[in-house]
Amino acid sequence: AVMKVFLTRRIPQEGMKILSAAGVCEVSQWDSDEPVPRTELLKGVQGAHGLLCLLSDKIDAEVLDAAGPNLKVISTMSVGFDHLALDEIKKRGIRIGYTPDVLTDATAELTVALLLATARRLPEGVEEVKNGGWSSWKPLWLCGYGLMGSTVGVVGLGRIGMAIAQRLLPFGVNRLLYSGRTAKPRAAEVKGEFVPLDTLVSESDFIVVSCSLTPETQGLCDKAFFSKMKKTAVFINSSRGAVVNQEDLYEALSSGQIAAAGLDVTTPEPLPTNHPLLTLKNCVVLPHIGSATYSTRGVMSALTAQNLLGGLQDSDMPSELRF
Ligand code: GLV
Ligand code: GLV
Repeated sequence: AVMKVFLTRRIPQEGMKILSAAGVCEVSQWDSDEPVPRTELLKGVQGAHGLLCLLSDKIDAEVLDAAGPNLKVISTMSVGFDHLALDEIKKRGIRIGYTPDVLTDATAELTVALLLATARRLPEGVEEVKNGGWSSWKPLWLCGYGLMGSTVGVVGLGRIGMAIAQRLLPFGVNRLLYSGRTAKPRAAEVKGEFVPLDTLVSESDFIVVSCSLTPETQGLCDKAFFSKMKKTAVFINSSRGAVVNQEDLYEALSSGQIAAAGLDVTTPEPLPTNHPLLTLKNCVVLPHIGSATYSTRGVMSALTAQNLLGGLQDSDMPSELRF
């Protein structure tokens, strides 16, 4: 019997081609670049055997109940899975596919770009050129912080954290600190020193958050965290917005407690245009574009489709989440 799958969004053609070539499923889709409304999601999943979703779709008990007992695989086009209610999914015996590895390079590259843009104040400079603020070459104007001789702290030295560290080292980083649950053997490749979070926070000139969002990391970067940072330090987050307490970050940035912040992720997403963080010159906010290269998004969609097909056919999935 033909199996039903529901796609919560338009995805790159690479993934669509794989689904149609397989000929094992009947695809229905929220055929838009905008998120599926909750009511349409609850309708769309009814009777589905497979669900292909994005990180912006909250997949909880309500969605699983709406889907019903046919559902056997959820394939998310993301490396993050904090939008999936793992306990509820496990209880129902549903498998999960996700997209680690394929977006590591693109995300690390974007994180480095964001770090440099924030530390060297690129968005401010671009703005000044446009608004007539560029009156002459001035010795003290638009000065920022460079990586040469610095100490970098990576919170969460996983796949992406490692790739960020590898890219930052050639800029002349002096010490590379990292924190997390356990020391990582691979850290030797980047001369990484495993230190307690407090040490990382107080000794780093650049702090890069690259951990996954879990109950332990939720709100990890709060008032106490920012108050231990150097006044000259730059804070970067390209993991999940909820790792940061944004009110505390706003306070730290506006009071000069820390130098600057660059965020590729926020809570909520999108961040409302009237959000206080957006009034600050020393805060650079990007719209969650870590993995956004044409080729990476193409490969992500292909892997997401292959994971879905593997789950539908009770066979191997190229990237199955073990949970
Ligand atoms: C991006 O944030 C992802 O989880 O893929
Ligand atoms: C900068 O352009 C310099 O010449 O120092």
